[in-house]
Amino acid sequence: MGETVIFRCRRNSVRAERMDWGMKNRLSRIIKPETGRTVMLAVDHGYFMGPTHKLEEPRKTTEPLLAHSDAIMCTRGVLRTSINPGSTVPIVLRVSGGASIIGESLTNEAITTSVRDAVRLNVAAMALSIFVGSAHEHQTLTNLGKLVNEGEEHGIPVLAVTAVGKELEKRDARYLALACRIAAEIGAHFVKTYYCEDFGKVVKGCPVPLVVAGGPKLETELDAFQLAYDAIQDGAVGVDMGRNIWQSEHPVPMIKAIREIVHGGVTVREAQEVYDRSKNTKEQVILRPSLAR
Ligand code: 5RP
Repeated sequence: MGETVIFRCRRNSVRAERMDWGMKNRLSRIIKPETGRTVMLAVDHGYFMGPTHKLEEPRKTTEPLLAHSDAIMCTRGVLRTSINPGSTVPIVLRVSGGASIIGESLTNEAITTSVRDAVRLNVAAMALSIFVGSAHEHQTLTNLGKLVNEGEEHGIPVLAVTAVGKELEKRDARYLALACRIAAEIGAHFVKTYYCEDFGKVVKGCPVPLVVAGGPKLETELDAFQLAYDAIQDGAVGVDMGRNIWQSEHPVPMIKAIREIVHGGVTVREAQEVYDRSKNTKEQVILRPSLAR
């Protein structure tokens, strides 16, 4: 009998048989088997940036967005203080840190949260940053190896974030393909990276699913829709977006429109229509009702 493909992206897929039931089940809670895609909401910025604009009060920011998110990426501090434990939204727990935006180096990260605590928090996955090519390359890559070892033991998938710290100009296909491939080779179950020109090369070289960050707030909503659309067209399985959603003037219409791109395959123009109608009428604008979480 052939292998079951549970997650699809354009050029590669994850073969379910390689994983144990718990690992498969947790990943399926994040990357929805119905579409093979995901809209993750990133709200972990405070772990190195403090009270980021529009995320000063995490509960206020996240509460209206929970129902529209396939997963929430946050730290245990925000989870315990600001997310209702009655919520069924899967949690991708950020477990690395130890550096701040005003410190000497953003790349000097360690694992800050134990797998034991992640289990206690019933998370769907754990996330940590790697800084390939930085002074702390070795340390962050060995952090990843250790986390994957423990994740495998407990059936918890690991999301590697190919972080660049303050060097945003590093975000090109050559660098990101290298960083994503290394993350997958060390055993990350999925990888978060940036969208870039020639993103297909990054996808091609990475045998596990990729989600893209939004990065700093773009000038217009349309720019963010274009980024999500291009990433999906080029083979990402979804987005793990933060500022371009909750720093928008209309976060709920924004995430609804992003969902339509990721799960519904709508065009950028159609997404803009979803956004405009939703923001103007506050009506439930869902082109395909089956996509609502
Ligand atoms: C930082 C992160 C953040 O979660 C990520 O960058 C946030 O998303 P966005 O860039 O869309 O605000 O992983 O390393």
